[in-house]
Amino acid sequence: MDSQVMPREQLGVCAEGNLHSVYLMFNAEDGIESQLRPCVANVAQYICELSDQYTDSAFNGFVAIGANYWDSLYPAKRPAQLRPFPAMNADNRDAPAHEYDLFVHLRCDRFDILHLVANEVCQMFEGLVELVDEERGFQFMDNRDLTGFVDGTENPKGRHRQDVALVGDEDISFKAGSYVHVQKFAHNLSKWNRLPQKKQEDIIGRTKIDNIEYASDDKPLTSHIKRVNLKDENGNSMEILRQSMPYGSVKEQGLMFISNCRNSVNFEKMLHSMIHGDADGHHDHLMHFTQALTGSSFFAPSLDFMNDAAN
Ligand code: HEM
Repeated sequence: MDSQVMPREQLGVCAEGNLHSVYLMFNAEDGIESQLRPCVANVAQYICELSDQYTDSAFNGFVAIGANYWDSLYPAKRPAQLRPFPAMNADNRDAPAHEYDLFVHLRCDRFDILHLVANEVCQMFEGLVELVDEERGFQFMDNRDLTGFVDGTENPKGRHRQDVALVGDEDISFKAGSYVHVQKFAHNLSKWNRLPQKKQEDIIGRTKIDNIEYASDDKPLTSHIKRVNLKDENGNSMEILRQSMPYGSVKEQGLMFISNCRNSVNFEKMLHSMIHGDADGHHDHLMHFTQALTGSSFFAPSLDFMNDAAN
């Protein structure tokens, strides 16, 4: 980050991976904003304190406010790039929008703690919000997506995670906050598993077992990593911090894709490149094997922002 005075970030935004996760999506009742503001701050503070209490199991989490609900909860000011999920569609590749008012993201290496905390969070919110969706994520094998490919390898590392995921001095009121995009992808695993391994590898752009990146010239233009590896007009890499995890049961399973970033443009451009492709129409062939069921846009403010706005 780029300045001396640093508001406190919510620790789950940049946390390292965990074994388990719980995703709670809420919609707010009407006219309860003055009660909800302190409650949101308390829940975020509680999650932060639990991170200290349960360090052994690496508990962490964050609270994020939906793009369409932000102005109701915090009418005074809005993060500069907070906008609704960029729904898009081309042929049978669909990225629908499905917005929620609040998102509570909880992760831990112990599932019993997560279950306990999820119940407590719901209790704290009682009467103010309705739980409309809940999903549970899990680490699969050695950090693999259910397609069998390691997911998260090229994520930013160390301090660079903060640089990528947290707003800096460019939007001072929202410093240490993070733009969050969530998509629940349901995989068609029977279709995917019928593909020969080499074809799967061509679609991702990495080898499956050893997780080796293809040489640049060997990466098909339709491979996932070719489509999402973007540069801005100055030639700098456009990065996001992915906090995705596999979710689901035998009936419906896939990837809970979660992007944290200091801006919303990087995610929007990547998704556009996946769905619409490049100027010659090379889209992401991974999209033939998975379907986005939701698409939501949030902002996870700093703890200090939520505390200051609570009263
Ligand atoms: C890389 C899987 C959706 C952005 C990867 C990798 C895998 C993967 C296996 C390679 C290993 C790694 O570096 O993590 C998936 C699956 C998805 C999905 C299964 C959904 C079904 C998305 C979406 C975005 C995205 C929606 C952004 C809009 C990225 C980025 C990388 C990446 C930025 C790193 C590329 C690089 O620098 O090499 N993904 N992904 N992914 N993915 Fe995804």
